[in-house]
Amino acid sequence: MSKRSMSRALRGLLLLSGLLPLESVSAGDLFQDRILPLAKSPEHSSCTECHFSGVELRNYIQDSEQATFASLRDAGLIDTRHPEKSKLLQFIARRPEEPNELTEKVRRQELDAFTAWINSAVKDPELLKAKSGIRPANEVAPEVIRHARKDHVVSRFVDSIWSEIGRCQNCHSPDRNQHQIGRMKKEEVEAISWIVPGDPAATLQKLVDTGNIDLEHPDSSPVLTKPAVLVEHGGGPKFFPGSDTYRKFSAFLNDYAAIRANRYATPSELPPASDELVLLTEQQLRITNIPKAFAGKSLQVNLFAWNASNENWETNRCATAFSRVNGKDGIWQNQIQLVLSTQDVETPKKRKTLLLPEGRYKVEILIDTEGQTETDYLARLTDRNQQGVTEISGPWPPGYQPPRIIKFPESR
Ligand code: HEC
Ligand code: HEC
Repeated sequence: MSKRSMSRALRGLLLLSGLLPLESVSAGDLFQDRILPLAKSPEHSSCTECHFSGVELRNYIQDSEQATFASLRDAGLIDTRHPEKSKLLQFIARRPEEPNELTEKVRRQELDAFTAWINSAVKDPELLKAKSGIRPANEVAPEVIRHARKDHVVSRFVDSIWSEIGRCQNCHSPDRNQHQIGRMKKEEVEAISWIVPGDPAATLQKLVDTGNIDLEHPDSSPVLTKPAVLVEHGGGPKFFPGSDTYRKFSAFLNDYAAIRANRYATPSELPPASDELVLLTEQQLRITNIPKAFAGKSLQVNLFAWNASNENWETNRCATAFSRVNGKDGIWQNQIQLVLSTQDVETPKKRKTLLLPEGRYKVEILIDTEGQTETDYLARLTDRNQQGVTEISGPWPPGYQPPRIIKFPESR
């Protein structure tokens, strides 16, 4: 039986079972049998294990073998002299440290198919002559590919949401919430354990799988609306609209949803990188003697360090906190967040010890007297909202027994 007359199905079967040596099959047949099906497959390619959008193997496959070969060669993805070193094969061979089992199977198939086809194609003089002028249909800019890479996405998740996990873990982390059993049923505690301890990437995935991230309406995601009590939350308020925390959560969720929906194509569509990192510490601040007029209002503090060398306050804040004033006793209390500059070379070191160092700080108190943040959740309090300034210095150990306590300044 000649290779030509053999039915496609039979050939495929023999190839897969190893009964027909790969070398006996022409590049054209390999392309038809092994490569085109990858382009038509409704399944995601192995690339999506690391690229949340912008990269799909099918984008590299054209309708014809000639066009596919020429476009890949022209894009530097096929190395005609050392086919086994082709960049496309390196892309496919990339695997995470702990690959998903199913994806690993897909990857194996893709790699076998492209290895066989490329090895055969580079020996075909007709293909070597092929001209295409077509670029691989990967119209997404490199900045977008980078932005949508899983490691970058997870790193932004860590900065925006995971860095606040200290506000959630006592009730939502299975290694911390067992004491809730009794007050709640064991199954209920399990059902709300959306944190995977020590694993932000898995936690992000779990938030999606449990519907706690809403990809259609990111700002309606329970992971945001529950702790901000825009809907009922068994744990009560954990942060409020108008806070840096609210903005960080919202920004991440909107960006994540845009990535998953493939909404970015050009760099100008990407959200601007933040110049501040706002990270939760375990230091607590309490303000007492707050005038009755501010009962129930959102109050934000911004702390500015004393710069001894130029004898003035720094212009950029170094810490912040945001909560509502308790009406009954005129008290406000919250955990403070360190504010680090993303431009500062010392930042990676500083974020390892999340503690505001002992020192002298100016405390600016901003109050949302008009309730602006209660309707515009992303609104930022500014100098216009300033209701008092005071100073703080001395040791500031973490924990709330006791917190650092300051009195609301008498007059402005
Ligand atoms: C294990 C994770 C992982 C997988 C799987 C993966 N990539 Fe990547 N990819 C990366 C990383 C990390 C970078 C950036 C580092 C670099 O440029 O070497 C990258 C960069 C890229 C780039 C950017 C430009 C370039 O030349 O490096 C492209 C295009 C790309 N990958 C395509 C693919 C394709 C196509 C697949 C699937 C066949 C794929 N990747 C699978 C991790 C992965
Ligand atoms: C004091 C305990 C407590 C804390 C702290 C807490 N929660 Fe909750 N949370 C609950 C309880 C109880 C429920 C279940 C009742 C409900 O859905 O409101 C819940 C439900 C949720 C749900 C829905 C879970 C599901 O799968 O149904 C999300 C999402 C959530 N909380 C987010 C947060 C976030 C984010 C934080 C931290 C910023 C946080 N919670 C802090 C007690 C807490």
